[in-house]
Amino acid sequence: MIDSDLIKKRILIIGSNGMLGQRLTEFFNNSTQVELMCVSVEENSFIPELQYKQLDISQKNQVRQIILDFFPDIIINTAAFTNVDKSETEKETAWKINVGGVENISFYSWTVDAHLIHFSTDYIFDGKNGPYTEEDKPNPIGYYGRTKLASENSIRVSGTRYTIVRTNILYGPSKYGRPDFVKWVVNSLQKGEKIRIVTDQIGNPTYIDDLVNAVNKIIEFKKEGIFNIGGREMISRYDFTLRIAKYFGLDEKLIIPIPTKELNQPAARPLKSGLITIKAETEIGFKAHTIEETFSLMKIE
Ligand SMILES: NC(=O)c1ccc[n+]([C@@H]2O[C@H](COP(=O)([O-])OP(=O)(O)OC[C@H]3O[C@@H](n4cnc5c(N)ncnc54)[C@H](OP(=O)(O)O)[C@@H]3O)[C@@H](O)[C@H]2O)c1
Repeated sequence: MIDSDLIKKRILIIGSNGMLGQRLTEFFNNSTQVELMCVSVEENSFIPELQYKQLDISQKNQVRQIILDFFPDIIINTAAFTNVDKSETEKETAWKINVGGVENISFYSWTVDAHLIHFSTDYIFDGKNGPYTEEDKPNPIGYYGRTKLASENSIRVSGTRYTIVRTNILYGPSKYGRPDFVKWVVNSLQKGEKIRIVTDQIGNPTYIDDLVNAVNKIIEFKKEGIFNIGGREMISRYDFTLRIAKYFGLDEKLIIPIPTKELNQPAARPLKSGLITIKAETEIGFKAHTIEETFSLMKIE
């Protein structure tokens, strides 16, 4: 008898050039147990030697071709329209990608009987009474959150096997694209620039590699359903920024505390938010690093 766990798992990472996609790609690319295929909207992969194809998830035929050709056991979808403010003014595009794209993926995931792992956000909540468990009732206050909640619902009704991983405030190493929040703070303070940071948005910032490890455990334990993954501490964005400055020996006086309303952003933000991770801790042995441990792992100079 063949032990199916001895056969290489075929993993398809969608959105592999994104912030999270990159770290998942690097992680699974190093595994001898995995045959990896990566797809993203750009023409080329951030790592040239990968098995890579260009894909726009809103194009059903493209999604069909990629999934039916590769026939993955596991599909990890990180592709999304993630600009929270632009989602208010570019509603049609946000919906087309975040909902239409996910409908396409979940349909073909069901067709090939794959396990779909998809990412969602604490922005599906209103931020009046956080932190939230997996059972709390969503009530998005912005369009991005509405599209992400609709993406969750479209997966639930698709019939595919799925895990929805809700996370918040990702930070960590990324080689390609914009710097993450920690690097942005360090760069700005090193240049002596003042930065205005909100004191009234609370969450548990999530180190990307902790999230990648959680995804690996979800695959290992074949866990389905909804899982919250987040950092160890519920903390305001301002206090998190102070911790960055302190750890990297930078001038805390350059960090100006402000309330969210002063930013006049197009999209409302959930303020008292964050994600409780007890379910992941008990069911997949999830354990986030401390904030300072994650800074040391980032190796920023
Ligand atoms: N970052 C956070 O703090 C955070 C918090 C909670 C949840 N999440 C969720 O986690 C997931 C990953 O987030 P992230 O921070 O890694 O986002 P990201 O860096 O913006 O990555 C998303 C990727 O999807 C690509 N993409 C956009 N439209 C596409 C399309 N039509 N077809 C294929 N690819 C497309 C983007 O390409 P372009 O950049 O070229 O558009 C980008 O490479 C998302 O589902 C997000 O909602 C993130």
